[in-house]
Amino acid sequence: MTKQMIIGMHLGNGYGSQPGAWRMPGVDPKNFASFDAKVRYAQAAERGKMQFLFLPDGPSHVGDIGNEAPHFNLDVMMTLAAIARGTERIGLVATGSTTFNEPYNLARSFKALDIMSHGRAGWNAVTSSGEDVAANYGQRIPSSADRYGRAHETVQLVQALWGSWGKDAWVHDVESGRFANEDQIQPINMGGKYVASRGPLYIPPSEQGQPVIFHAGGSPNAHALAGRFANVVIGATFTIEDAKAQRQAFRDAAEHAGRDPDEIKFIAGMMTTIAADRRAGLDRKIALTGRTFPQRVRYLEQMLGVPLDPSRLNEPLSKQQLAAARPSPMDPRSRNALKIAKEGWSLSDILAHGVIDYHPSIVGPGVEAADHMQEWFEAGAVDGFWISPDVYQDGVDAFVDGVVPILQERGLFHRDYEGATLRDHVGAPAQYGIDPRV
Ligand SMILES: Cc1cc2nc3c(=O)[nH]c(=O)nc-3n(C[C@H](O)[C@H](O)[C@H](O)COP(=O)(O)O)c2cc1C
Repeated sequence: MTKQMIIGMHLGNGYGSQPGAWRMPGVDPKNFASFDAKVRYAQAAERGKMQFLFLPDGPSHVGDIGNEAPHFNLDVMMTLAAIARGTERIGLVATGSTTFNEPYNLARSFKALDIMSHGRAGWNAVTSSGEDVAANYGQRIPSSADRYGRAHETVQLVQALWGSWGKDAWVHDVESGRFANEDQIQPINMGGKYVASRGPLYIPPSEQGQPVIFHAGGSPNAHALAGRFANVVIGATFTIEDAKAQRQAFRDAAEHAGRDPDEIKFIAGMMTTIAADRRAGLDRKIALTGRTFPQRVRYLEQMLGVPLDPSRLNEPLSKQQLAAARPSPMDPRSRNALKIAKEGWSLSDILAHGVIDYHPSIVGPGVEAADHMQEWFEAGAVDGFWISPDVYQDGVDAFVDGVVPILQERGLFHRDYEGATLRDHVGAPAQYGIDPRV
């Protein structure tokens, strides 16, 4: 069978990835607090056979709370617990900081989710880098060496705790009165420079044994951590060349740790505004984010290296401006911004193309998203994508009905789940307890 891509979906605050999503027509402005809404969006992603949901987490909020919703879920584990009860196949992945959690807490809550979802849990083990998050724990962000030092210990400890209840330890035999085989339930007695735990964790294996490790980070320390432990990397990248380099760095790190590089999948971010045509997509994006454009023009100026007038949003760049424009080497999105500007779009339309979005942005018909995904995938730049729909209320269905069938038709995406667990969905090898190779 030819290789097919993995697709995940970002599930954040309950509205969508664009700042104005909370007040779009048809969106319940109270969705931030609605677990039912999140279950519905998860069900829509599952209808599209997506392999996983990704719930990022700080947890903290810094931003324009007067006008915009916080980015994160109320509580990622509670949200996933609700979703676990309302879905059957899709993988459930949440971020859990290795810096601001004790390994025992992480081990327990992720394994409980794994049991509850029948083997669909994944842990995005990240070190956190925001001082806003640290401040919520009364701390400062430690150095990279200390953050990653603690992360290496934490992931090992969590995996050891996951394996501390032997595979066949849970007997629950009413006749003999034997609940569990205590010989197979052992403390782990592990300690390092940063964290320690006696164990055991008192939770039996799930259908996939234990949760799948994800990671998100870009530094050499991140490569090394993911290389040892991760099966999936949640990536952020703007060009095929950069994606290739990042994917290779993670694969090299996995090989260095004694693993098969195919055990680690690099999944790139992508934002979607799927509409009947480009004009309809741009208008939708303007309705969502137009309020920010006067201020974003200031940033676009820096990307293009020419002065721009925020009071003339509906005009394209002049011939002189285009001739003088140079993409900023400081921002990898600048080349694309200049390319769009040269097509003659107005300032407002240039911004509506999402040239300052966090990930490559597709604004237009589903086939354009499918083409983007095919090009990157066939170039060997990615193993798949995690998509951030602009508005969950109709944006998930727009992707599922407008992009997924094209990818399936082209043989690039599966037509149904091949297995039942997240490990099956992402091709992660069986593992119980720590990986003896690393
Ligand atoms: C795509 C992507 C997603 C991330 N998601 C989260 C997240 O949900 N929560 C978080 O605290 N940090 C998140 N991070 C930040 C990383 O944890 C890390 O702190 C940051 O990339 C800095 O990397 P470094 O510590 O390797 O320099 C994410 C990073 C990337 C690239």
